[in-house]
Amino acid sequence: MNVLILGSGGREHAFAYKIKQSPLCKNLFVAPGNSGTSELATNLNIQVDEFSNIESAIIKHEISLVVVGPEGPLVNGFHDFISNNDKLSNVSVIGPKKEAAQLEGSKDYAKQFLNRHNIPTAKHETFTAENIENAYEYIDQMTPPYVLKADGLAAGKGVLIIDNANEAKNLIHEMLINSKFGKASSSVVIEEFLDGIELSCFVLTDGETYKLFPSAKDYKRIGEGDTGLNTGGMGAVSPPPFLSSELLNKIENKVIKPTIEGLKKDEIEYQGFIFFGLIKVDDEPYVIEYNVRMGDPETEAVLPRIKSDFLDLLISVNNGNLENQNLVIDEDSAVTVFLVSGGYPEKYEKNQEIFGLQKVSDSTVFHAGAIKKDKKIVTSGGRVLAVSSSAETIELALQKSYNSIKKINFKNMNYRKDIGFDL
Ligand code: AMP
Ligand code: GLY
Repeated sequence: MNVLILGSGGREHAFAYKIKQSPLCKNLFVAPGNSGTSELATNLNIQVDEFSNIESAIIKHEISLVVVGPEGPLVNGFHDFISNNDKLSNVSVIGPKKEAAQLEGSKDYAKQFLNRHNIPTAKHETFTAENIENAYEYIDQMTPPYVLKADGLAAGKGVLIIDNANEAKNLIHEMLINSKFGKASSSVVIEEFLDGIELSCFVLTDGETYKLFPSAKDYKRIGEGDTGLNTGGMGAVSPPPFLSSELLNKIENKVIKPTIEGLKKDEIEYQGFIFFGLIKVDDEPYVIEYNVRMGDPETEAVLPRIKSDFLDLLISVNNGNLENQNLVIDEDSAVTVFLVSGGYPEKYEKNQEIFGLQKVSDSTVFHAGAIKKDKKIVTSGGRVLAVSSSAETIELALQKSYNSIKKINFKNMNYRKDIGFDL
């Protein structure tokens, strides 16, 4: 079959890499893609929010499956757009419709879902400009730090963790009255701070049954020792070494199964990935957030561990065969280390030529902010390349990635030398 992947990051390159390995894949397209996907697939010069251009491409290239990488198109109803279009009735989409995508698109929607189905999460209240005084009172009743979340999508910047009550109140005012995050902060969720270690779990589901993918831990801060500004992700390891089978059982029984059952009870259909952003507090899992897609950089450490035919798994989401699929996971660990542009996540230069990629043999390099220009590969974003490796242990896999990184360079290249430091 012909497959289209929407997106342009390392996650989408990793999808392309796995899908291309499947004998079921005839022609593979990525929109808009990057220099990495162009080696495996045909890149289409279409952005992920250009629904009618995507429609034309689906028809022209006889696409039967669309895999949606990022959340934006899902929250904006991409799956509904395909389903409601008579010309595209045979096209399957990996990624939920608009209703279910609210699990990521609205923090308040997610919190209501979690509470309705008794899934452990931080205590919270939601406020708008009308009841801002109640938000201030709520802050006065809480103990710091205060967790403030813009309800809507805010490009990963909508969560603030604040130690001081007055500062928290000022920020609530900024969000609700002065639209600090635009429409995304017209409601604000204030929640209890949970102190623990974070991990990411993933399932692929057809809304009835699910397959548990490998779990991962990502490293979000720019600086070593988890310091400095938040980024899109500087690296990831899979599995998280602290994920015991006991904890995984708890996660399945207290979080994953109740989520799938909850979707069914609420009659919300779901086809695609669910990403559970979890925090472990005293050996108990709590949900910090739902995402309706795979994680990035987690995908670049999770997919290398999938031994089964990934495309076959995706196809089975829409043909009712997911339950019968046997998902085989590599016992080896996998890691990814991100190479970023100097200055990122603040100001950085683009268009820097990348050297040495062909010298890497022990790792798989997934391209993110990198494009082809005049036969050269140049940087086009802050997070440039994800260097992934597998080995018997996380330590050995990290050694492989760090050795491969020595062969790659571009001007002002930066990366964290301590991925896995805390494990
Ligand atoms: P979110 O966008 O909801 O994933 O939040 C972004 C980050 O904020 C998370 O990855 C956590 O590090 C942190 N965070 C969110 N909610 C809480 C909470 N209730 N307690 C502690 N940390 C949190
Ligand atoms: N790694 C976190 C995310 O993809 O949102």
